[in-house]
Amino acid sequence: MRLQLASWLEVETYLKASSGIIIPIGSTEQHGPTGFVGTDALAAEGVAWKVGERIGAMVAPTISVGMAQHHLGFPGSMTLRPSTLIAVVRDTVESLARAGFDRFFFLNGHGGNIHTVNAAFNEIYAEKSLSPASNRPAVRCTMMNWFMCNGVRELALELYGDAEGSHATASEVSLTYHLFPGAAARIKDAPLTPEIAPEGKIYDADDFRRSFPDGRMGSNPKLSTAEHGARFLEIATDELAESYQAFVTNR
Ligand code: NI
Repeated sequence: MRLQLASWLEVETYLKASSGIIIPIGSTEQHGPTGFVGTDALAAEGVAWKVGERIGAMVAPTISVGMAQHHLGFPGSMTLRPSTLIAVVRDTVESLARAGFDRFFFLNGHGGNIHTVNAAFNEIYAEKSLSPASNRPAVRCTMMNWFMCNGVRELALELYGDAEGSHATASEVSLTYHLFPGAAARIKDAPLTPEIAPEGKIYDADDFRRSFPDGRMGSNPKLSTAEHGARFLEIATDELAESYQAFVTNR
């Protein structure tokens, strides 16, 4: 069930049976000439909705802007500073915790969020640990990356080998082509030169644009198809539904 499409009475009823919630988190950043700026948020949200549907879990609104400072050299990219994203994650968790949610399953679509979101979890725990007489509820947070699911890694290797790359990857582009075929038709034939993009390290936005001129890192998303995307969605849903259930039932 999507939180945004539930009434507060339905949320109250849900909380009698479960205190778990899925929070999709992504990013709004360039994904090369043939990928959507919203790739990371759209992919995380697509997987989260499917997991929620399958097992009847509540899904919060997507945190669609993440930590993506290195992409700001390309138009359309947006970032939250790490300190801002930490505040967003804390306030999101604490708002929902007040109502009785205590198991927060962040379903992530962007590698650049990982350190910052984990720092936010530690801020949340520290707040409780450092408050001696606190009546704050004990919450647990976890973050799973759909693109790191074992089955997803295996299928990406089988379909793309080294051309999967590490940014604007063939697998994430496939997943969004499956979710948004109409928009994909508009952008998927943009030329890519070279076929496989360079790899390297990430520093600031100007440096990124110099090192990775069309925005991709190591990938060839010309290999991406909507049909592959349907398979990635299915595999990620299976694995993450299982991870979610283990996470919320472990007391
Ligand atoms: Ni991405």
